[in-house]
Amino acid sequence: MLEVHALWPTLLLVDDIEGLDNLKMLDTVKSISVGTVKGWDSNIITSFKREGNVILEHKAFKELTVEILNRVEIFAQELGVDMGRYYIKINDSLVNIGKKGTFQEFHDHSPSDLSCVYYIDAREDQGDLVLGQFNGKIFKNAESTLDGRVHLPPKTGGLRVFLGGTPHQVNINNTEGTRVSIACNFDLIKKESDI
Ligand SMILES: [Fe+2]
Repeated sequence: MLEVHALWPTLLLVDDIEGLDNLKMLDTVKSISVGTVKGWDSNIITSFKREGNVILEHKAFKELTVEILNRVEIFAQELGVDMGRYYIKINDSLVNIGKKGTFQEFHDHSPSDLSCVYYIDAREDQGDLVLGQFNGKIFKNAESTLDGRVHLPPKTGGLRVFLGGTPHQVNINNTEGTRVSIACNFDLIKKESDI
């Protein structure tokens, strides 16, 4: 069920996307070579590359991309963005693989306007996404947030959309299983007709 939390405790959209072939996407992930990011407080295996991250452009993620962009647009509208005047640009998209013992320390995805995570394969005990308070500037109701953190357990098919500047971490996966997710960043770009 789609939920948008625009006022408390942070700006967040929570939804479960049904009807997608997560197993097919998982097979695709397994066929992609990934490495670890050094020099950052994370031990998650990721497809991150400095030269660009475009995992959603793979045909296996076509339907997922449509579903994600739908929700990101809803979220932007909830934030007061006039989507008649802006379009959503995917800045980057990558796969994160969290085996036993993996985690990510607090970080954010600024300067991207919006970010999301989608779980291709995850159980609720494989590391919560923990979001902190966002100190927003560009969205009209961002100032309404209160102090506090929100803990969101992962689950297969789960999508979480939040402001790119929201500090967040991923708790440790203490299970024997592996959590696989897609992370994306977006910008809201003013349409040329509006400039
Ligand atoms: Fe992140």
